[in-house]
Amino acid sequence: MKPLVQVSRLSKFYPVTGGLLHKKIGEVKAVNDLTFDLFKGESLGVVGESGCGKSTLARLILGLIKSTRGQILFDGLDITAMGKTRLRRLRRRMQMVFQDPHSSLDPRNSIFRSLAEVFKIQKEKITTAKRNDRIFQLLDMVGLKPEHCRAYPYQLSGGQKQRAVIARALAMTPEFIILDEPTAALDVSVQAQIVLLLRKLRRRFNMSYLFISHDLALVDYFCDRIIVMYLGRIVEITSGKLSGQKPGHPYTQLLLDSLFTADPFARKPAPKIEGEVPTPFNLPGGCVFQNRCPHAQEICRSLSPDLVKTRTNGQVACHFPLNSIDKKGEEIQK
Ligand SMILES: Nc1ncnc2c1ncn2[C@@H]1O[C@H](COP(=O)(O)OP(=O)(O)OP(=O)(O)O)[C@@H](O)[C@H]1O
Ligand SMILES: [Mg+2]
Repeated sequence: MKPLVQVSRLSKFYPVTGGLLHKKIGEVKAVNDLTFDLFKGESLGVVGESGCGKSTLARLILGLIKSTRGQILFDGLDITAMGKTRLRRLRRRMQMVFQDPHSSLDPRNSIFRSLAEVFKIQKEKITTAKRNDRIFQLLDMVGLKPEHCRAYPYQLSGGQKQRAVIARALAMTPEFIILDEPTAALDVSVQAQIVLLLRKLRRRFNMSYLFISHDLALVDYFCDRIIVMYLGRIVEITSGKLSGQKPGHPYTQLLLDSLFTADPFARKPAPKIEGEVPTPFNLPGGCVFQNRCPHAQEICRSLSPDLVKTRTNGQVACHFPLNSIDKKGEEIQK
């Protein structure tokens, strides 16, 4: 399979200022040295607790914010080196759906106008009649009725609004869509409908998705592979669904223990993970997960582990990955 998106050594640091003179007193490592590929036709999940850098990663890939360092290639084109015009043109090929459909739609525009605007922004050479046909086709694709085109956002339910946002994202038939918590603001039953719609659209158009959520069960249901993030770092990339294999990183295991249920749409309790939750502000050296990890040793406090291949073809950043530890907790001789 060919990679569609190649992210290498990508970082985004925000300066933190303090005191009367607003001097720089440190930095938030929102995204810290990430490397991964997303393949054509794949649905790749990104999971992790609030503040671990998921949305920052999404914004970097779309070129909405500039990286501190690192490179992002989309179909071989370097996004980090692109100007506004080229980025706008690239938006035909990559789109994003955010968590809150209400703030994604302009309240002053009808759904029809919101969709028509995309064609204008992209300077699409299309007759008005053809454009109108296309708008009704898009509404139908996402399960909205023709009369919804006259509605304003406040007249629609949360689920209907998110369908309209998805229709808008599909207007230019993109190859790649970043979904940042696309169902988090919706009721559980509506969540299921939107997830099923996204799956159907993906099959129909052979699209690639980067599906971001803090809900591991939902990500595992929806995605082919999963990136697990913790405090700006990737701690694990699975080679397939987590339900079928043993995780390599203790953090993934903890997420699984606390979140995984057979029904991805059932409400789940918040993860119960021991230890203080650190922030990505002025991180100490060593592994980011050290102070919450039940297996942490001396080396974990001094040396940050690299992301390395596991025996199951995934990747894990841990000095003592779980899938190379036997039942007695002793490392298996390689
Ligand atoms: N513009 C900014 N200025 C300073 N810090 C920022 C900025 N944007 C994000 N951050 C910080 O970067 C870290 C990652 O934020 P981000 O929004 O990417 O997390 P997230 O994983 O999407 O969280 P959530 O699940 O709550 O949406 C957080 O500590 C956040 O406070
Ligand atoms: Mg976010």
